[in-house]
Amino acid sequence: MSLVRLEGVAKHVILPDDSRLDILRDIDLAIAAGDHVAIVGRSGSGKSTLLNLMGMLDRPSDGAVWFRGEPVRKMRAGKLDKLRGRNVGFVFQQFNLLAGRTALENVAMPLGYASGRAFWNRNRTAAAMLERVGLGHRIESTPEQLSGGEQQRVAIARALVRRPALILADEPTGALDVETGGSVMELLDEIASEAEAALVTITHDLHVAARARRHYRLEAGVLTPFDLTAPDAGAAAAAAYDRVELAPELAESVAPAESMEDPDAAPQPDGAPEAAASLSDAPAGDRATEDTVEVAS
Ligand SMILES: Nc1ncnc2c1ncn2[C@@H]1O[C@H](COP(=O)(O)OP(=O)(O)OP(=O)(O)O)[C@@H](O)[C@H]1O
Ligand SMILES: [Mg+2]
Repeated sequence: MSLVRLEGVAKHVILPDDSRLDILRDIDLAIAAGDHVAIVGRSGSGKSTLLNLMGMLDRPSDGAVWFRGEPVRKMRAGKLDKLRGRNVGFVFQQFNLLAGRTALENVAMPLGYASGRAFWNRNRTAAAMLERVGLGHRIESTPEQLSGGEQQRVAIARALVRRPALILADEPTGALDVETGGSVMELLDEIASEAEAALVTITHDLHVAARARRHYRLEAGVLTPFDLTAPDAGAAAAAAYDRVELAPELAESVAPAESMEDPDAAPQPDGAPEAAASLSDAPAGDRATEDTVEVAS
């Protein structure tokens, strides 16, 4: 059974001038326990909106969302809040940390709704999770005293502290350098597999996307699967971004030097030759290996 399933999901809003903006169109997506899915797409393509629907923070205008086979539409608000609190860990794009509260308080917050031992041990568990994201020495700092990347790691610790069944990460490495981003993604993977959780990652970074087992791109609200290991995957992924912004980053950080000279390398499509070269080297159907990530540094 799917953990979360979207069927024919659409989302639109009515703008102040009475025009209708279709943000998501007819989306079908099923996420199972242990799944790791990456979603890429241009700014404004609807990625965060989609994540909010998967996490039951928002309701679709059309179509239906099921969580463990139960239609979310029919759940009462109290039940829905409890279900979400217990099962979904969000890493929000804007972090959404509580201002004026310490990192420890922020990370322990989701455990404030737990019961028994999880509740009583919440500070110890939160401190251990902050240690795992490399912030063991900053547990008493408030978000105002932390850098963007440090706040991002606090947000990740908070999303993981309750060992959710579904981890939804919106640009989890957006504020991090390549090395810290790599270790944070490893932690997300590790915690997801420890608990057989599903991980859905929205990202602009192809290294991060390459860690997932399944890949989708969102274009103008339409979700399409693509194979990141296919020879033309670089072009496909680049098409989902603002290419001007992405190309230099790919040229510098994605392409392994040896693959550029590989005479057997697949023909490289125009637009993102470096990405095509490096991504076609990734083993099909496998997660990205450490080597792929190390190439970036
Ligand atoms: N409540 C809302 N009212 C009006 N427009 C909205 C609302 N929510 C989202 N939108 C619009 O829908 C589109 C998709 O927004 P969304 O935040 O999902 O994009 P995104 O793919 O996450 O972009 P980014 O990469 O910049 O974070 C945007 O044009 C946004 O302005
Ligand atoms: Mg977004």
